[in-house]
Amino acid sequence: MLDEIISLKEQILAAIAGAADADALEAVRIQYLARSGSLPLLLERMATVPRDQRPVVGKAANDAKNASAAAYEARKADLAAAVESADFDPTLPGRYEAPGSLHPVLQVRDRAIEIFHRLGFALADGPDIENEVFNFDALNTPPDHPARNEQDTFYLKEDGLAPSVGLDGKSPGGRRLMRTQTSTVQVRAMLERQPPIRIIAPGRCYRRDEIDATHGMSFFQMEGLVVDQGVTLRDLKGTLEYFFRELLGEDLKFRFRPHFFPFTEPSFEVDCSRAGSQVKGREWLEICGCGMVDPAVFEQVGYDSEKYTGYAFGFGLERIAIMRHGIPDLRFFTDNDVRFLRLFSTRIDA
Ligand code: DAH
Repeated sequence: MLDEIISLKEQILAAIAGAADADALEAVRIQYLARSGSLPLLLERMATVPRDQRPVVGKAANDAKNASAAAYEARKADLAAAVESADFDPTLPGRYEAPGSLHPVLQVRDRAIEIFHRLGFALADGPDIENEVFNFDALNTPPDHPARNEQDTFYLKEDGLAPSVGLDGKSPGGRRLMRTQTSTVQVRAMLERQPPIRIIAPGRCYRRDEIDATHGMSFFQMEGLVVDQGVTLRDLKGTLEYFFRELLGEDLKFRFRPHFFPFTEPSFEVDCSRAGSQVKGREWLEICGCGMVDPAVFEQVGYDSEKYTGYAFGFGLERIAIMRHGIPDLRFFTDNDVRFLRLFSTRIDA
């Protein structure tokens, strides 16, 4: 037994020294050292060694185990170092992965947030999955309004869901839907806090539109809401004109065109034009819906409409990005073609 151990040890050390690469070394490990390799199998037979020989044989066994393990580790380290020094050329340039940059629509969003922050607006948020009460009823939109049609709005299958809830958290909220406008956040903000309110809420909206150059089924809006005592249409005009000039240029001209929205009265669409520049052959481009908050909306959230007035506005971020950069087709924003996205990289080296 003692001879067997010594000779196996020699054999193993020679095999390790002769292993030319990592694969060969692994084969040696499996043959001799792994759980059913020849060394452990031999050592299992220690139990049969006569008692008086055990100290000597045991010592040799330990020595064989330790020596092979140490030789194996040393050889493994040597081989790894050799591979590295053969492969490593310190004169090669490093591999460069350009970090991404923000999508052009999100760049517009962030710039808009910056400007509104300066005007004292705080960020507010609401869920993409809403229900009819938050998306329509609380915003004074009657049950027969065309926007509520299944052709225009994505309704969710309610199978297995608990019924949705309305403004008080208990009454029925109607069918679940993907919000068609960020105006829903107005309602949530007013339920959460008392005036004065001064918020903006950027986020995604969803509509069942045919996808073409000017329509998508999902797009970004930014909503704004101000409620306080003595807020007037003048505040609304001043704020929006300042904001859009900051965002798109000092030379912008505005037109507040009377319009209808269920949740504001009076309501307007804001058109803007820039001297000498036309978009799609038109001088005026509509960029924003707005108005004075309808007292009926205040009633819904329990605000005193005799005491408070407010204004609200909402605009699409893609449209602003299109104006800002002269992009001809909305689909560029969602195609994810990096050649397009790189044009808006904020990194000079990308
Ligand atoms: N939610 C409107 C839309 O999606 C935009 C809008 C118009 C928002 C007037 C407002 C508003 O807050 O006062 O077309």
